Amino acid sequence: MARRYRISRIAVLLIVTAIAPVLRGAETVWLSDLDISKMTVGWGEPVKDASIQKQPLTIGGRKFDRGVGSHADSVLFVELAGGSKRFSARVGVDSEVGSNIGSIEFKVIGDDKELFSSGVMKAQEAAKELDVDVTGVKTLILIAGSAGDGVSYDHADWADAKFEVTGVKPKAVDRPSVDEEMVILTPRPGPAPKINGPRVYGARPGSPFIYRIPCTGERPMTFTAKKLPKGLKLDETTGIITGTTPEKAKKHKVTFGVSNEHGKAKRDFTLAVGDTLALTPPMGWNHWYTWYDRITDAHMRQAADVMIDSGMADFGYQYVNIDDCWMIRPGSKDPELIGENRKADGTINTNSRFPDMKALTEYIHGKGLRAGLYTGPGPTTCAGFVASYEHEQQDAVTFAEWGFDFLKYDWCSYGRIAKDNSLAELQKPYILMGDILKKLDRDILLNICQYGMGNVWEWGGQVGGHCWRTTGDLGLERGTLLPGFYHIGLANAQHWQYAKPGQWNDPDYILIGFVGNAFRSGDPARRTSLSANEQYSYMSMWCLMASPLFYSGDMGRLDEFTLNVLCNAEVIEVDQDPLGRQGKPIVQDKGTLVLAKPMEDGSMAVGLFNLREAGRPMTLNWEQLGLKGKQRVRDLWRQEDIGVFEGEFETQVARHGVAMLRFFASR
Ligand code: GLA
Repeated sequence: MARRYRISRIAVLLIVTAIAPVLRGAETVWLSDLDISKMTVGWGEPVKDASIQKQPLTIGGRKFDRGVGSHADSVLFVELAGGSKRFSARVGVDSEVGSNIGSIEFKVIGDDKELFSSGVMKAQEAAKELDVDVTGVKTLILIAGSAGDGVSYDHADWADAKFEVTGVKPKAVDRPSVDEEMVILTPRPGPAPKINGPRVYGARPGSPFIYRIPCTGERPMTFTAKKLPKGLKLDETTGIITGTTPEKAKKHKVTFGVSNEHGKAKRDFTLAVGDTLALTPPMGWNHWYTWYDRITDAHMRQAADVMIDSGMADFGYQYVNIDDCWMIRPGSKDPELIGENRKADGTINTNSRFPDMKALTEYIHGKGLRAGLYTGPGPTTCAGFVASYEHEQQDAVTFAEWGFDFLKYDWCSYGRIAKDNSLAELQKPYILMGDILKKLDRDILLNICQYGMGNVWEWGGQVGGHCWRTTGDLGLERGTLLPGFYHIGLANAQHWQYAKPGQWNDPDYILIGFVGNAFRSGDPARRTSLSANEQYSYMSMWCLMASPLFYSGDMGRLDEFTLNVLCNAEVIEVDQDPLGRQGKPIVQDKGTLVLAKPMEDGSMAVGLFNLREAGRPMTLNWEQLGLKGKQRVRDLWRQEDIGVFEGEFETQVARHGVAMLRFFASR
């Protein structure tokens, strides 16, 4: 009896569930019946190349007849217009990825409110049930995010996904285009001279030295440098200092002066001769995201020219860096890239696009700039070119002889050499190169590039690194509602305790302006799809995190807006502050990020970021910021004081935008 009773109860339950919508006068509309081509990946590209599968789907071994299978990261906007009551589905990673490492986080957002989050789901995990009330919701957003591990094996299934509809039918729509005016916030520098750039600069004893005093204003100008140590000399018309640093470790307090017909300026500059380089985060340009494997000597010279002519160098941009692809590529079909890997004595060969490295660095140095290069500890680089395995010492000496000042050392094929994933094996190639570089009689910064493995931020400095990438490639980070740089930035922000003078977390390059697509590296650079507010947020976040500032867009197509983002002296000053602290994330939730960076002069630089889809008023309070009393609040992008406040400060912040502020104690 009892058994029969149980069965009939289940049957009743099933019937009731099935007919409930009908009883409520609702109709079922399947997600797979909507126009799924509206789904986008990354920064708004159509998902079509990412194969949308409508049926059947399998999650955790269970088969579903209907649904939509896609990739992470992907986003679909559905206009409900208040016509639906419920949205339900079973979500998970499709079983077709096997036991691979794919992981996905599913989210459902209704009019800016998160209605469902699956948490991080792994391959082979059973489907999770989602059933949310969407009464009154106008726009529903379905997100499959890559959960921070990139897109590999991320086959995201929305199985049995359906709407319970009582009114207007749901409709998949294009991602709303963001129509933001590209407002230039940075005031133009005046004609009178103003000295920018770091206030403290490290150099090792007895090393070749080159420094161009960053200074805006009309040229010609005349420069002076009081108390410049012996062995260094200043060119009074260009402001370029060259020579050899003194043999003794010592902090030299130099005073720069400059004058032109509109006025004059002064600035203290500490030249710290000692063991520590990169006392402030390095700044410059790197070729990767514009030229990929098409890079040539001529592109590098152009970048150096533009760094001066565009005024970037007047704000402190200094390094002109070659990334991968300057060497021979074994097996390449491109005649320009083939040849002997190395000379008979083992010296590494360049490919024919780099006929004379020494002449190239001399050209760059001639402008008062520094030159950077790339290799890796494995047999080949990420792009398959010859790297430094078993030639580390010889290559480093060659790079120094060529005149390079910066080395990006990229793990890549070293995975085949490392015995295992132990910390010792992760550190080994970097200890080796770090020690070699320290012994050279040239100051070469070491940029560790291994994407954050083994918590590199905990030990990158000890093995001789001056900065280390904390994440995978920013250009391959697709983003969901928030663009990829936000994801990378939010991850990098967690490691704030580890940054200090000489040792910086590196969240990768600044990809704005005209910039190439890392997924289709053969394509020419295109204008970024980031909104104006997103670009201000990008630069603000990087500066508040004391990140190396490397632009990687096309130097030949720098427009006024891009230069306004890259070249705001007060924003850059936050990055270059001598105290060298990385901003701490004091608030970080779904809608808000607050980064607070204590500055050497006792003031506090603060970024108030709005991660939401709509602009809104946002508040900072003194307690959160560790501030007391009256504070003069300055808007750093506009370079103007907002007023004096006490206790709290409220301001309107745009969608994905930022208020970048500096708080000064006021009486
Ligand atoms: C890796 C690095 C990138 C770039 C490429 C070059 O992906 O992370 O920054 O240097 O290699 O192949």
